[in-house]
Amino acid sequence: MRYSLKVMVKMPSGSKHTAIAIMAAGKGTRLKSKLPKVLHEVGGKPLLAHVIAAAAQVVPAKDIYVIIGHEGEKVSNAVASAGVQFVVQEPQRGTGHALMVAHKSLEGYEQIIVLSGDAPLITTATILKLQGFHREHKAAMTILTAEVENPFGYGRIIRKSVKSPEVKAIVEQKALNKQQTKIKEINSGIYAFDGKVLYANIDGLSADNAHREYYLTDMAALLGKSKKRVVAVKADDPHEILGSNTRAELVELDRFMRMATCQRLMNDGVTIFYPETCVIDNDVQIDSDTVIEPFVQILGKTKIGEDCRIRSYSIIRNSHIGDRVMVRYGSILDEATVADGALIGPYSHLRPGSEIGENAHVGNFVETKKIKLGKGSKANHLTYLGDAEIGSGVNIGAGTITCNYDGVNKHKTIIGDGVFVGSDSTLVAPVKIEKGAYVAAASCITDDVPEDALALGRSRQITKPGWVKEKREKKG
Ligand code: UD1
Ligand code: MG
Repeated sequence: MRYSLKVMVKMPSGSKHTAIAIMAAGKGTRLKSKLPKVLHEVGGKPLLAHVIAAAAQVVPAKDIYVIIGHEGEKVSNAVASAGVQFVVQEPQRGTGHALMVAHKSLEGYEQIIVLSGDAPLITTATILKLQGFHREHKAAMTILTAEVENPFGYGRIIRKSVKSPEVKAIVEQKALNKQQTKIKEINSGIYAFDGKVLYANIDGLSADNAHREYYLTDMAALLGKSKKRVVAVKADDPHEILGSNTRAELVELDRFMRMATCQRLMNDGVTIFYPETCVIDNDVQIDSDTVIEPFVQILGKTKIGEDCRIRSYSIIRNSHIGDRVMVRYGSILDEATVADGALIGPYSHLRPGSEIGENAHVGNFVETKKIKLGKGSKANHLTYLGDAEIGSGVNIGAGTITCNYDGVNKHKTIIGDGVFVGSDSTLVAPVKIEKGAYVAAASCITDDVPEDALALGRSRQITKPGWVKEKREKKG
């Protein structure tokens, strides 16, 4: 399975040995989207990012050429951190044309592997299988294929004979005759080419077809005609080559990928109840004996330690959670850090920059942003804590609010170890409450409170005995 795959590949000596070209210039008309196809996400990452990740285990990033065109700048920005090269195809006149445009960049490479930017399930192991088969058969072109139940929409493989590895042609859906529609072996759009042979022949492609495009698939018949060896190898898992041309295909791939992620995590000792209701991104890491309840989302680069429990309806994104952490129902954690043994929720909202200390508690309807909450400190009910540094062993009473914003700037609240903040207090920042101090309930604190002091920031209660009775009697 690709998800636990760690393939160490020995790079062949000689930097011009193998290049990988990833076709990613198309618009993706069938998705009916403003976003270019390869930037649509499955498993929480753009399609293209998945393909680059698989390719980067086969060749160094400098030998990966992403062919961009439609919204090219958007596409290159989205994956620039991978350190790959870009080739611009403008206008986009088909998959064959994409490779024509890349001629200058790719010439000199002995072997060229072509991947499709819209087929994100491709694995490193399968690329290596394709590469190995190609070498073994001393082929000019090797096509990765698969047998599928519903081949509609894909190019079909016409083998020389049923058992032969050799291929006569690839026929696109629109050009199939009745007999050929029965063929279940499909073209993945993923190939290995002998670099020299590809570029010696590519100008022979014509755009004489339904879309007036240069199809890379026509290379199979073209090379065959000049007696070059064209072979096909089947992927072990047909899912791996599925493309995402429509919204329905896209969500199908997403579902498949997420189920595989759940499977990987369960294999590693994580319990996921009703995994089909959970949305867990590809790069998420969770340690053993952690339990994920139904309807949980764990997104981005989140890491969760061992022996945690994530209760239903919680959403955790790009966060780090230690061991033995309990996240109760309906909590949202976004770019937060939670140390071992902490208790979050139900219905807490930890916004970016929240650092919750060991064994600390953040409870019902508490919102935090850019804060440090020290070891064993508690903010259990109905509170907003923003831009604050809170020490250890602090009790934040229900309804406490750090007033961190003056309409222009944000200010900090500093609370020392062992402070007790009574319920319904407003702490007007910048303000400091030093260690061991008490803040009386319902106080509005505008001045610093020294160590071990009691601060009362409210007016005294006035009680008028019999006042209501008098009023009532007057009326009557
Ligand atoms: C292609 C194959 C088909 C195969 C299928 C597998 C062709 C003609 N057909 O069809 O046999 O079964 O993939 O998924 O190749 N692209 C460019 N420049 C272009 C056109 C496309 O870079 O001018 C890119 C697209 O962004 C995409 C990839 O090439 O990532 C494949 O193009 P797409 O339009 O999806 O081809 P399919 O119709 O899926
Ligand atoms: Mg496609």
